Amino acid sequence: MSRYNDIDIQRWREYGDIYTDSLWIIEKRDNSGAHSGHYHGNFIPQIPHQLLTRYTKSGDWVLDPFMGSGTTLIEAQRMNRNSIGIELQRDVAVEAYRRIITEKKENITSKIIVGDSRSVDLEKELQGLGIKKVQFVILHPPYWDIVKFSEDANDLSNSKNLNDFLDSFSAIIDNTTKHLEKGRYCAVVIGDKYSNSQITPLGFYCMNLFMRKNFILKAILIKNFEETKGKSNKHAIWRYRALNSDFYVFKHEYIIVFKKQ
Ligand SMILES: C[S@@+](CC[C@H](N)C(=O)[O-])C[C@H]1O[C@@H](n2cnc3c(N)ncnc32)[C@H](O)[C@@H]1O
Repeated sequence: MSRYNDIDIQRWREYGDIYTDSLWIIEKRDNSGAHSGHYHGNFIPQIPHQLLTRYTKSGDWVLDPFMGSGTTLIEAQRMNRNSIGIELQRDVAVEAYRRIITEKKENITSKIIVGDSRSVDLEKELQGLGIKKVQFVILHPPYWDIVKFSEDANDLSNSKNLNDFLDSFSAIIDNTTKHLEKGRYCAVVIGDKYSNSQITPLGFYCMNLFMRKNFILKAILIKNFEETKGKSNKHAIWRYRALNSDFYVFKHEYIIVFKKQ
């Protein structure tokens, strides 16, 4: 058995449902049970599901500093992983809690913290939970200001410019991954931004932050992004605009995986 997952490599032929390609084409969102697509800017449950399968073991602790609707925590609980979610907006955290407890498991902890992930005292929180480290961190930040999540000045989607956004994201990488066990993994899920006729490659900027902090780059995965709330039923107009101008219609997001040395 691996040190960081429950995959029995002797039985590798039986794991047909685990993605090993760098291109993730996912036709349909998993909307089962507590999962739902109600939260604008959430990710599909298959993303944490695949990452937790590959990079965590049963009983491990997973940290998500951009919890939103709690997709990671719901999936972690189902997979017998403990989890900690941090969310800036209290009402969003309350709604996530309401969903998570509908699938509550006795022996699994799903801890929710309302606060700013740059400054939450995780040392204290981990002590309170009786643990020293977490075994996986998944970061799904706002894609800068593409979707505005709140009026709160601490919300990364209200960053005034790209440097502010990257500084805040960098602070969250530091405040969370210092509690990640050495030799374990973390992942960022992010898309790029197109405005004023140019691309801001948020994915690459964020990847660089991790690399400058000496994380080992393990994977750059591309996930398709077929139906978004903003683009649904508007394929023709987007195609027309792309052909009439000099851009391509975004159909992908990045899932970038790193290992802590
Ligand atoms: C892209 S969404 C995450 C969605 C989540 N993966 C899901 O499936 O619902 C980003 C979330 O980060 C929250 N957020 C923004 N700035 C934050 C900060 N400084 N600390 C904690 N949460 C923050 C936003 O309120 C939003 O809910």
